[in-house]
Order: sequence, then structure tokens, then C-alpha cells
Amino acid sequence: MAEIRVQNLRKAFGAFVAVQDSNFVVEDGEFFVMLGPSGCGKTTTLRMIAGLELPTGGQILLGGEDVTMRRARERDIAFVFQLFALYPHMNVRKNIGFPLLAQGMPSAEIRGRVEETAKLLRIDHLLDKSVSGLAGGDRQRVALGRAIVRRPKCFLMDEPLGTLDTEFRDLMVHELRELHNRIHATTVYVTHDQMEAMSMADKIAVMNHGVIEQFGTPREIYDRPATMFVADFIGSPPMNFLGFGGGLAKGAKEIVVQGAKVPVPEVREDVAPAEMALGIRPEHIRFDDGSKLRGAIYGTEYLGTTQIVAVETVDGIIKARVPAGIHLSPGEQVGLTLSSARLSLFEKGSGRAVRTAMHDQAAEARHG
Ligand SMILES: Nc1ncnc2c1ncn2[C@@H]1O[C@H](COP(=O)(O)OP(=O)(O)OP(=O)(O)O)[C@@H](O)[C@H]1O
Ligand SMILES: [Mg+2]
Repeated sequence: MAEIRVQNLRKAFGAFVAVQDSNFVVEDGEFFVMLGPSGCGKTTTLRMIAGLELPTGGQILLGGEDVTMRRARERDIAFVFQLFALYPHMNVRKNIGFPLLAQGMPSAEIRGRVEETAKLLRIDHLLDKSVSGLAGGDRQRVALGRAIVRRPKCFLMDEPLGTLDTEFRDLMVHELRELHNRIHATTVYVTHDQMEAMSMADKIAVMNHGVIEQFGTPREIYDRPATMFVADFIGSPPMNFLGFGGGLAKGAKEIVVQGAKVPVPEVREDVAPAEMALGIRPEHIRFDDGSKLRGAIYGTEYLGTTQIVAVETVDGIIKARVPAGIHLSPGEQVGLTLSSARLSLFEKGSGRAVRTAMHDQAAEARHG
């Protein structure tokens, strides 16, 4: 297995830049997820790592070796595609062993490797069955088996669960992560599904329009989004934004939004941008009759243990996640309290997070 290092990677198709100066390191044995909306450049990045597409600029290092100009088959990488094309006329054993046969490995050795791989995937009881009779999950496992049997330096997966229904998808997410915990293969996994990313990744890169907006652990990305795009893309429902003007002066202990004072940990330096947004996740809002930040109940979405409540304020809808037991009627007036340790601040124009001392204090408070 090997580390993947991507340096200033760039890809242009004519005048259109699909990937802009990407930089990231996938450490040896890490499960890395590239997450972003359709067309943001995920597949293009993956294809460059695989050697299926030549970069316009930058380097790709695999285990410390510069492979930027090497062909795909000289990179020792396994690419798992969305559509698992198995050989329908071959049984499971032959399907898994096929890449080794193609390499010219002796049959006794193939047998051993195939059996070991099948055990790892818990499909050893199916080895002599035909793949055409298999259930979807077992077919996926055979396809994975075919990828891991070669023991490549790393795995690249492009939305491998894209076509599955939700229930089955959840199962495969769990299964893939389990497999990773057992074999610790360096993996780059591409998806547009934030839940998949959050539940599988050691590290995530969130991409938008060819740019990596943030690189970090799922927790870092959720708790301290670097941009409004990331704050909005991650989380369901996404982070709420409340606009305010005037910037923040050193020593400030509150922000005025919609005429209500929101207490914040003391600001230790001047924050210049005039147009800002305060970001708060739905689960960090409480109902509080005493609060001056007010609105009317617009609708509720019951989720069993919690409910998502949409509150219409003068500045638009704010969504709160509160215990399901609270009874609320449409039109009812409520006050909202925002958990001050959980606030994010953004410059509205650039969308970038404004880092002030208050964020460090808040982070300390969160991580104990
Ligand atoms: N061969 C090509 N020629 C021209 N433009 C391309 C080519 N390949 C990709 N693009 C463009 O580059 C951008 C990024 O494409 P890419 O396939 O990497 O996106 P993606 O993030 O994988 O999206 P999706 O989630 O839809 O798979 C898109 O706007 C796409 O139209
Ligand atoms: Mg794609």
C-alpha cells in the first residue's frame, strides 16, 4: 500500500478548467473521500490519479514516486467503476481470479489468493456458484473481490454505490468501511452523497467548481466549515445563515441579528468585512420564549426522536432540530436561542469563514 500525494494538480479542457490546482495527501492506509456536486471535477481528478487522463499541470506521487507521466497499467492501482461488469458465463471463483490469470499467475497460487479474498468478503461459500444467480450485494462483493485480489497499491472508486437503492446502499457503506478496517488499503472514493462521505471517510475533500474548498476529517468539516458552500453542502438540513452588517470590533461580546443580540465569546481582534453571515446548525438552536430573535412556525418534519422545525423570521426561514416531544402549531410565535459556542462566522462576499479567537475558544470548549 502507498501514500498518494497530489500537488498543484490541474486539468483544462480547452478554455474550461475542470480541476484547479488541487493539493492533498492521502496517507498510507487512509480512506479518503472526494465529495462535491455534479460536474465539480471529482471523476477528472480520479482519472488523473489512475493514469487515464493526463494532467495539464502538477504532479501525482504514489508511494513517493512521481507517476504523473506513467501509463495506467504501470501504476498498480485498482479502479472500481460504478457499473460492475462481471463475466456472466463464469462462476464466482473464475470472476475473482480473472485479473491474476490475465497476469499469468500459476493456477495453484491463484486458487489460494481467490479463496483468501473470498473469505475476507465472506463469500467463500459462493465460490462455485454462477454470478448470474447472485443477489445484488453478493455481486458487488464479487466485483470488490476482483479488485482486491491483485493487492494493488491503492483503490480508486467512482460512485461505486451510485445505482443502488437506499437500504442496500447503507448496507454496502457499512460493508466497504468494514473491509477497509480489515485490509487498510489506501482508498480514494468519489461521491456526491454527504452521508456516504461522513460515515466512511478518514479525510474528506469538498470540491466545488474544480476547487477543493476544504480538506479535513468529517468532524472538522462539519464543526468548522471553511466556506459557506461547505457549510451548506454538509449537513441535513444544512447550516442556517443569518446576515448582519457592520463587522465586528475587538472586544465585542455580541452580534446583533434581526434586532436581537446574540451573545458570542469575546472577539479578540477587529473583523473588517462589512457584510457578514452568522452560521448555525439546526441542532444548535433552542426555543426560548425570552429571546428577541423571533419567528412564526412555518412547518415541522417529524423524524421520530427529533423534528425539524422551519421558523419564518423577517430574514427568511431558519430550521431548528428539536426533540420530537415539543408540540408546535403552524403560525405560533417562538423565540430562538443560538448556542454561542457553536456559531460560525463568514464573510458574505467571498463566502470564507472568518476565523477569530472566538472560534478557537469554541473549538476548545467543544473538544474539552
Ligand atoms: N473530456 C472532456 N472534455 C470536456 N469537458 C469535460 C471532459 N471531461 C469532463 N469535462 C467537464 O469537466 C467538468 C468536471 O467533470 P467531472 O466528470 O470530473 O465531474 P464530476 O465531479 O465527476 O461530476 P459527476 O458527479 O456528475 O460525476 C464537467 O463540467 C465536465 O463537463
Ligand atoms: Mg463523476
